[in-house]
Amino acid sequence: MDVIIQPDAEMAARTAADLIAQALSAKPDLVLGLATGCTMESVYDQLVRKHLEAGLDFSRCRTFNLDEYVGLAADDPCSYHHFMRKRFFDLVNLDLPNTNLPDGLAKDLDAECANYENLIASSGGIDLQLLGIGLNGHLGFNEPLSAFRSRTRVVTLSRVTRSQNAPLFPKPRQVPRRAITMGVGTILAARGCILLATGIEKARIVARAIEGPLTAMVTATALQLHPACTIVLDEEAAGSLRENDHGLRVLPAQLGPAQIPAAMLAKNEADSHSLPAASKKSLLAGKS
Ligand code: GLP
Repeated sequence: MDVIIQPDAEMAARTAADLIAQALSAKPDLVLGLATGCTMESVYDQLVRKHLEAGLDFSRCRTFNLDEYVGLAADDPCSYHHFMRKRFFDLVNLDLPNTNLPDGLAKDLDAECANYENLIASSGGIDLQLLGIGLNGHLGFNEPLSAFRSRTRVVTLSRVTRSQNAPLFPKPRQVPRRAITMGVGTILAARGCILLATGIEKARIVARAIEGPLTAMVTATALQLHPACTIVLDEEAAGSLRENDHGLRVLPAQLGPAQIPAAMLAKNEADSHSLPAASKKSLLAGKS
């Protein structure tokens, strides 16, 4: 696990966007896992800017979102489908048929989940998965006690999650009670992961995720098992870490290709474990 700490939320988001842009430039047909949530808005802003100003090309990229609420139509303003179109898909040259989210209105939800897993597998698997973190440590909508080997499925949302997401709905009681989410096992199967967390309110859960014991009570501790995971934080979100020497404080300009956190550069290379070590060394070398 690499931990990159930036001075503020804007720079942290820029770092996450830089890592995605590098991965996409290295592999134009990247299979990119995407996330929603307020934290991601600046990442998408940065990626849109890179598309408009630097020609970052998404035309061959395929995307899979982590999750969607059950019962919301794609054009519902509170759905993740709507969020993704408004914040990202409609603003870059992604081919809409290449973008995927679970269908929260599917008649047979279990079949929809199995189908989503099959789609990911038939695309060759996810190269790079972008992640946020919930206040209870969830990834996607994998609430506490989600099995580390779980796959895409229907879940019941916890009270913490429903109240965390309530401000995004006209009335708190309109927050759906269920969602479809990629499983923890689905996320861990991605060749690389980037988790972005910013703000003081995430500090406690970030410390548990990075430094705490592995536990299904904090889903994000599962990332400790991932061979190529980069955590990007701002100073506030890093504020409760006990160790102060695993944060690599770098400027985005110092990030080189070695920081691409996944094995997407060597898709079939068995030993992806060597990549984070190389990345760490070169980050340290880049420090002034
Ligand atoms: C939702 C999403 C998660 C995301 C979380 C964090 O619950 N399902 O994938 O990590 O929000 O949201 P925010 O960035 O708004 O704190």
